[in-house]
Amino acid sequence: MKALIPAAGYGTRFLPASKTVPKEMLPVGAKPAIQLIVEEALAAGADEVVIVTSPDKPSLKRHFDVDAVWHARCAKKPEIDAELTRLEEIGRRIRWTLQTEQRGLGHAVLQAADLLAGETDPVLILLGDALVSGQAPSADMAAISRAFGGASVVGLEQVPLEKVSRYGIVAGTPAPEAPVPEAADRVLRLSDLVEKPAPEAAPSRLAIAGRYLLDPAIFGLLATQTPGHGGEIQLTDAIRRLLSTHAAYGYRYPGRRHDIGNPQGYFETLQAFQAPR
Ligand code: UTP
Repeated sequence: MKALIPAAGYGTRFLPASKTVPKEMLPVGAKPAIQLIVEEALAAGADEVVIVTSPDKPSLKRHFDVDAVWHARCAKKPEIDAELTRLEEIGRRIRWTLQTEQRGLGHAVLQAADLLAGETDPVLILLGDALVSGQAPSADMAAISRAFGGASVVGLEQVPLEKVSRYGIVAGTPAPEAPVPEAADRVLRLSDLVEKPAPEAAPSRLAIAGRYLLDPAIFGLLATQTPGHGGEIQLTDAIRRLLSTHAAYGYRYPGRRHDIGNPQGYFETLQAFQAPR
């Protein structure tokens, strides 16, 4: 399985901090958010991670690079030095590509199409500003996809009715044969998606929540996707088109999603993780 992390957005909701510190580099304990997300992807079975970043954010790649100077500085601190070595091993499994114009999430995903050309298995997409506390959803999503013959799966969270207009909201029917232990009621067969609906038009309160496992046909659809909400190329719009040809499931995962892309969400993330180091 290949993973893809879009991490090229402007991060305007976190200005002025995000002028020089990309939101994906905000620390949660001693690790930046992007490292935790890469680790989630690898733990779920990804053998390679593609990160889409922007020329304004060189620190993301630098974080995973081999750095002899830091090893020399940590020569007398073997535990920290081993941590740096482990980080570099993770770095060897990452490939990088750039989004030079910020035209939306769907456009960011499209920038990885060349690197993932020829892929036949679904690609795990993890938003670079979304962390999940508690049980990470990606491994469960991979299991659900396998059980349904390699179908697409999107991670879901239930949101209050007054907030549905901020999210992509799904319609679907329960999939009782779902393979997630004690969680059959958490899996839906999707019938439709609506991007940012008014509360009275929302088919449910289940919002797409930061994790996707999508058939690679998504890249062809994104290449022809016209701009949607906000004039941006929306991933949700392309997934909606994917639904007409490919089966897709939604997984209301048990972990809690946190948006580190704004100060309040970041504060809540730190409280939820309480990382010791
Ligand atoms: P957001 O919509 O939350 O990111 O995208 P943003 O545009 O950076 O945020 P604001 O509104 O300006 O504060 C979710 C994820 O998609 C990436 C972001 O980096 C984030 O990880 N993204 C978004 C891109 O890679 N490119 C884009 O053009 C937009």
